Amino acid sequence: MKFSFLTLFPNLISSYFTDSILKRALDSKIIDIEIIDFRDFSTRAHKKVDDFQASGGAGLVICAEVLENTLNYISTKDSHIIYLTPVAKRFNQFDAKRLASNYKHIIFICGRYAGIDERVIECFVDEVFSIGDYILTGGELASLVLCDCISRQIPNVLGNSKSLEGESFESNLLEAPVFTKIIDNSKKVSNLSIPSEYLKGNHSRIRVFKNHLSLKKTKYFRPDILKQRQTNAK
Ligand code: ADE
Repeated sequence: MKFSFLTLFPNLISSYFTDSILKRALDSKIIDIEIIDFRDFSTRAHKKVDDFQASGGAGLVICAEVLENTLNYISTKDSHIIYLTPVAKRFNQFDAKRLASNYKHIIFICGRYAGIDERVIECFVDEVFSIGDYILTGGELASLVLCDCISRQIPNVLGNSKSLEGESFESNLLEAPVFTKIIDNSKKVSNLSIPSEYLKGNHSRIRVFKNHLSLKKTKYFRPDILKQRQTNAK
């Protein structure tokens, strides 16, 4: 899978790939990344990329021309272009799985300031996503969130593919709590015991018990997704 990032802040993107799982995926060529500073495609004085809003109002808008020039330069054949914006459907685990299995090249457009000219979305963008109900300073973090979630769904990115089983949001449930097997020497934590069911080695009973804890956690933290689960079951 190839990920292209169109950004005004390339270092924000590259730094995320210098460590850990995505670095390993990159080194072993399971994923490939391309980071493009779209300021390089500005034809205006001082490489300006933005302008005032047509409607008036605070904040500059990124112009269509510079993004069109950038998209014309990179290979967009068979790619899927995603724009990150708070004005969109919220990204979720099902989107991550769908994108990982349906596309070989994903292009992220990372906005800044008051966003990009809406006509770019109309003309070039295949899908828009928000990562949550809050406003970030730009789309870079959001694009990395998507890239991370999508990448871990790609075979061999995670060391153990079993890690993907029974994760939070599968079947609209949050994951049950986990504990280390070793005797923990932490002074505070060792006063607390692990649920005894976890230690008895009966895997079918553990599964039932964990499911019970999952339901409790979901009911407490995310009654909205529990409701979704109940609707799906009908
Ligand atoms: N850009 C700014 N805020 C954002 C958000 N919440 N999701 C995606 N892109 C964004």
